[in-house]
Amino acid sequence: MEVLRDKADLEFLLDLKRDGPMVLVPTMGALHEGHLSLVELGNGLGPVVVSIFVNPTQFGPNEDFESYPRVLENDLDLLGSLDVAAVFAPDVSLMYGDGVGVKVHPGSRSTGLCGEDRPGHFAGVLTVVAKLFGLIQPDIAIFGRKDAQQCLVIDQMVHDLAMPVSLVDGPTLREPDGLAMSSRNRYLDQEQRDRAGCLVKSLRAGRTLLEQGERNPAVLKAIMEKELAPADEILYAEVRRVPDMEIFPSVSGRVLLAVSARVGVTRLIDNFVLEINGDEIREGFLLGTVSC
Ligand code: PAF
Repeated sequence: MEVLRDKADLEFLLDLKRDGPMVLVPTMGALHEGHLSLVELGNGLGPVVVSIFVNPTQFGPNEDFESYPRVLENDLDLLGSLDVAAVFAPDVSLMYGDGVGVKVHPGSRSTGLCGEDRPGHFAGVLTVVAKLFGLIQPDIAIFGRKDAQQCLVIDQMVHDLAMPVSLVDGPTLREPDGLAMSSRNRYLDQEQRDRAGCLVKSLRAGRTLLEQGERNPAVLKAIMEKELAPADEILYAEVRRVPDMEIFPSVSGRVLLAVSARVGVTRLIDNFVLEINGDEIREGFLLGTVSC
């Protein structure tokens, strides 16, 4: 596994692209099993490059940029046990050495949810993802479904700016009690960790109502909010249409149930993507699939 730190090191990637599609798994490090499962998903598609970069432009002024866990050696150990061709771990000076001039303006899918709750967040995400795509030039990029709105906002950028990359979303991995895996879970103490279970309970309550035939988004939202009560602050409980993130008059087709809440000082998100076909409800996905 090559570790690439500078722009010149990226020449290594030219060889990887010669024989077929190259896959990028973009991350901010502090890797957990969820990230590792995205690498394994990529292994079926082509040689995998993982980027590790804690991107300052996607954090708000009062967010956790300074305290975000930076554990590169540990991340490299974890990736070393998998089939990873290269890790790109640039310095801030490589990514933003000339300052932040041009930024990518997110489209309509960024309205509401994290887009409202974290102003400027998606512009920072899109700017760094566009830059990673430019530097690495992957054929396929894989993102975690847990960041559902991020997946859909990136998908809109790739479509609208005609970027030559296919996107894939990998399923959310969960702890035995259902809590979605996240690098931020390590901020929680035991008491907060127990209360954090309310996010998945809220999504399960929404799904149960859908299974019972409820199609009114306001009713679904109300039950999801009620289940979030153990959190310290409810940030949102939303029901949106996939992929355009529009609000439904009546829920049908592919639906995103998405919740966010603060437990202690930690901001957590989670979601279910569901496919409704008459009375049948099954798990759905967000992005296109690729043939390999
Ligand atoms: O999901 C993340 O870890 C980040 O938002 C990403 C996509 C790597 C951009 O910094």
